[in-house]
Amino acid sequence: MLWILCLALCSLLASARADPAALLRLGMDIMNHEVQSAMNESHILEKMAAEAGKKQPGMKPIKGITNLKVKDVQLPVITLNFVPEVGIFQCVSTGMTITGKSFMGGNMEIIVVLNITATNRLLRDEETGLPMFKSEGCKIILVDVKTNLPSNMLPKVVNKFLDSTLHKVLPGLMCPAIDAVLAYVNRKWTHLNDPMPVGQTGTVKYALASTPTTTASYIQVDLSPVVRQQKGKTMKLAGAGEALAFPEGRAEGSSQLLLSATLLSTELTLLQEAFDLTTQDSTIGELPPQTTETLAGFLPQVAKAYPKSKPLVTRLRINRPPKVTMEAGESLLHLHGTLEMLAAPRRGRVPLFLLEVHFNLKVQYSVRENRLQVATSLDRLLSLSRKSSKIGDFNEQALTGLITDYLREAYIPAVNDVLQVGLPLPDFLAMNYNLAELDIVENALVLDLKLD
Ligand SMILES: *[C@@H]1O[C@H](CO)[C@@H](O)[C@H](O)[C@H]1NC(C)=O
Ligand SMILES: *[C@@H]1O[C@H](CO)[C@@H](O)[C@H](O)[C@H]1NC(C)=O
Repeated sequence: MLWILCLALCSLLASARADPAALLRLGMDIMNHEVQSAMNESHILEKMAAEAGKKQPGMKPIKGITNLKVKDVQLPVITLNFVPEVGIFQCVSTGMTITGKSFMGGNMEIIVVLNITATNRLLRDEETGLPMFKSEGCKIILVDVKTNLPSNMLPKVVNKFLDSTLHKVLPGLMCPAIDAVLAYVNRKWTHLNDPMPVGQTGTVKYALASTPTTTASYIQVDLSPVVRQQKGKTMKLAGAGEALAFPEGRAEGSSQLLLSATLLSTELTLLQEAFDLTTQDSTIGELPPQTTETLAGFLPQVAKAYPKSKPLVTRLRINRPPKVTMEAGESLLHLHGTLEMLAAPRRGRVPLFLLEVHFNLKVQYSVRENRLQVATSLDRLLSLSRKSSKIGDFNEQALTGLITDYLREAYIPAVNDVLQVGLPLPDFLAMNYNLAELDIVENALVLDLKLD
């Protein structure tokens, strides 16, 4: 009985977990940069100094010392370490000078060097669904204490001062600094969940697939992108469930973003209608004049129907969702559709024939303005079959060259125009993708993330 229950439960759990279609791996390079820049942006140093100048509630008067003040908080040095399955261990090393008047009337100065340590647990914020760091177990470690007090007052007064005051006061003074820095890091995830436009026809939103995980050398964030049409319909990620994994051999501690071919296919499906093309110009690129006379060179029947040359209209309709495939070093975009040719006498358009076409485009990826740019070139016309004809039977293979040229000269430039919109990349930690190095692997595109 129990195992049946487990089977039912386990399959429920499995289906509730979304399949990630994008993975993010953050190494120490990026986390260090983020924490350092959060420290800069939070003006934590100024805040610590301002806090230190205030009267501290826990600061009890010390026998023999009056007019106690904290000044000269030093620029903190932050050291981070990954803690597997927990998050990041953070150590902030800083120093400060504590001044006062001793009962003998002399100015007293104590220079303290200290470490503030805490564990920043990596969680998924229940409310926002975003990654979030939360600090735990903040501790103050006194590294060094120097004083100008006369030596006969040492060690009694200093020891008392340290025990009763520094250990009580400093956590309240310094631990909020850790939280303030984390608040800045956390804030840099806020736009991850925002829907971002893919052209005019839809959006993609990079939602978390599960709670981020930490290993000894990186943080991994599994993303389950939601691709939605403008009308609001969520698209099913075709082919989801294919195992997605980082390729081996990446440098220890480096950072990568992995986008599945499935995700790219789904995003390009949003643009499917824009991939339709109708041409009626007589001159296109290097093509011969688009006329019935040119067509008659391939199909003599056309000359019979149109002894006088008429303009030629070509209509290509994509009738299946575009599909991106990837193998090491190569990515293809598969397109299926119909290609119709029509004669255009002075009035109206007269259909000549309709073909089913299947062709592949080679895809090249790059990043521009923080969006993934996709550019294509013709790989090959894979199949051509006649669906209907108003000019009698003919062997469609006779048109292979004509249609291949049409795809290359007329169709691909139009597709590349549409693709100029670019695809949105996850917006987190103010990531600059423009420096990323791209690599095509089995079923995915890898972006090796680099810092400025
Ligand atoms: C933080 O500020 C310091 C000093 O102004 C600067 O040298 C450093 O590059 C900054 N770091 C980041 C990550 O912004
Ligand atoms: C204080 O932090 C620094 C920098 O992380 C480290 O080198 C040093 O060992 C720490 N000292 C103590 C007493 O923990």
